[in-house]
Amino acid sequence: MKQFQYKDYKDYRECQISINKEKLHWVFAHESTMEYISSRSEGVGGRRENILCHGSRNGTELKYFRKYYPNANIIGTDISPTAKKFNGMVEWDFHNVNDEWRGKFDIVYSNSFDHSFDPMKALETWTEQLKPNGILCVEMMIEFHNKSSWADPLQLNLSEYEDMLTNLGFEIFDIKITKIHPSQEGRSRLTMSRRI
Ligand SMILES: C[S@@+](CC[C@H](N)C(=O)[O-])C[C@H]1O[C@@H](n2cnc3c(N)ncnc32)[C@H](O)[C@@H]1O
Repeated sequence: MKQFQYKDYKDYRECQISINKEKLHWVFAHESTMEYISSRSEGVGGRRENILCHGSRNGTELKYFRKYYPNANIIGTDISPTAKKFNGMVEWDFHNVNDEWRGKFDIVYSNSFDHSFDPMKALETWTEQLKPNGILCVEMMIEFHNKSSWADPLQLNLSEYEDMLTNLGFEIFDIKITKIHPSQEGRSRLTMSRRI
């Protein structure tokens, strides 16, 4: 694991917000990932009513989830105040506990885990947001795209991620190499996890 060290929290927040504004209309999430999640989570704990997406920038992944879960309540977070411009999005640092979200979600999804300054804290928060049979879906860049930097502070390999999940009482039940927009094959890996 490699972790870029910011001066302090203010430095982290300012960095993430400045990049968010610069890339506000970019989209990484690929619709095929949400389609895959919906196909693989059927039967794992029944109906999916509440979905929380972390680090969702302009909310495009929420739109994709809405297509496959038309009746679900879907919320997206982003640390940047720009979140408020987009339907279903709230300004929120995904490391932080929100009492209203505790134990509420069937699916917690993020492709922004590499933006974490404290991955264990983020995972603790995310796993606690799940219902007992909820599913954690995390998509991370792989190979040389998985690289710690000022913008993407966390570099973590699969076995390190698995160890963190084990400590939280979770296990991976599905792994898939995914596309990122606009159709760049094989740069990202989706893991789907549930409570042991
Ligand atoms: C790589 S982008 C991914 C955006 C979107 N999910 C997509 O697929 O296009 C990472 C996003 O995470 C946001 N972010 C970074 N740190 C965050 C944090 N601690 N809490 C919530 N959002 C954060 C950034 O502002 C940025 O919009």
